[in-house]
Amino acid sequence: MKAAVFHKIGDISVDNVADPKIEQPDDIILRVTSTAICGSDLHIYDGFVPQLRDEVLGHEFMGIVEEVGPAVTKLKKGDRVVVPFTIACGQCFFCQQGYHPSCEHTNPEFYGPQGDLLKGKGGGMFGYTDMYGGYNGGQAEYVRVPHANVGPKIIPDGLDDDQVLFLTDIFPTGWSAVKWGKVKPGDSVVIFGSGPVGLMAQKAAWVNGAERVIAVDPLQYRRDKAQSVNNVEVLDSNDDDLREKIYSMTNGRGADVAIDAVGMEASRSFLEKAKAVFNAEKGTAKVIEMCTEAVRRNGIVSVVGVYASPYDNFPIHRIFDKGLTMQFGQAQTHVYIDQCFELVRSGKVTLNDIISHRLPLSKASEAYDMFKNKTDDCVKVVLKPGLDK
Ligand SMILES: NC(=O)c1ccc[n+]([C@@H]2O[C@H](COP(=O)([O-])OP(=O)(O)OC[C@H]3O[C@@H](n4cnc5c(N)ncnc54)[C@H](O)[C@@H]3O)[C@@H](O)[C@H]2O)c1
Ligand SMILES: [Zn+2]
Ligand SMILES: [Zn+2]
Repeated sequence: MKAAVFHKIGDISVDNVADPKIEQPDDIILRVTSTAICGSDLHIYDGFVPQLRDEVLGHEFMGIVEEVGPAVTKLKKGDRVVVPFTIACGQCFFCQQGYHPSCEHTNPEFYGPQGDLLKGKGGGMFGYTDMYGGYNGGQAEYVRVPHANVGPKIIPDGLDDDQVLFLTDIFPTGWSAVKWGKVKPGDSVVIFGSGPVGLMAQKAAWVNGAERVIAVDPLQYRRDKAQSVNNVEVLDSNDDDLREKIYSMTNGRGADVAIDAVGMEASRSFLEKAKAVFNAEKGTAKVIEMCTEAVRRNGIVSVVGVYASPYDNFPIHRIFDKGLTMQFGQAQTHVYIDQCFELVRSGKVTLNDIISHRLPLSKASEAYDMFKNKTDDCVKVVLKPGLDK
């Protein structure tokens, strides 16, 4: 089959690889009909999350069940499903509590309690390096889905792929960010990053009753997108008065909730980059710092942007002084997918309005380049293996 294979930093090509096979009795093989590129894929592409051998990438995908293992009870050949990006057994200590990204059974080699830089990681994820289980991903014609009785969700025919694809990851991720922030009617929410995840968090904030949603991004075209699809107020992260502007929009206090939907690859100046090299730091925790400034005292900072290394000079003093609560992590897709699906089905939320490019799978390499460099007003790319036929 054809698949988007990561070779080394900045090098992804569409290659012929072996077809996936049923390996465990509760596996399925899915024929992928749509798959997206995520900001999280860029961390591998850019070398911030290391991967030393070739791997098929892609953790946002949906398709048609092609083959089922003998222990699969919930699905049959021909079913159309979306698949959560974290791989979970559904049975262990963490899965039972809704913390599927910490599943104890899906990352045998690198799992552990420590959460160190290169070992003691969380549960498995599709197409997300050997450290997270070494599973091939879904930017491919076919993909093996383990624990198929747990993750995949059947989608009725009335909804097309573009309407539901983002239930795999980014909508439940935006939803998790807002739920972790305990957003309630009347709240003001400031969301850093108007990429796909930030846009989804904006939608989730409105649905949960936010009164004011303020989106911060350095790129004009992404701010325009946020305004046009989600009707939010926008600010430029490079504005010298950013902090004061946020305070003036929130009764001088700061927002009730601040969300980081950017992560460690946030844009930064040459000086900031030089400092990071000097401190042996990868990327920056600058957006978390900005969140701690933008949020009001005793507010909540919710972090779904990905971080993969430690940072010195972290503003622990401000977190203490302001009495902040913070929550970080991979989204609880398994927990929220039904609720998120219902919002789409009932028409309360539209997800496909963020798609800027629909391309054949064979264009994956160009698509990564465009999404990474933010050219051609790229916001979200959906790859469709069927367009190659
Ligand atoms: N926690 C999870 O489960 C989960 C799931 C999906 C994605 N993610 C992460 O969410 C983050 C965003 O993903 P995405 O797909 O939207 O990526 P993206 O790269 O398209 O979007 C990031 C956005 O942040 C903006 N940005 C850069 N520096 C900024 C700053 N200083 N202040 C405000 N905005 C800034 C960029 O211009 C861009 O629009 C990534 O780190 C990704 O890995 C996490
Ligand atoms: Zn993702
Ligand atoms: Zn588990």
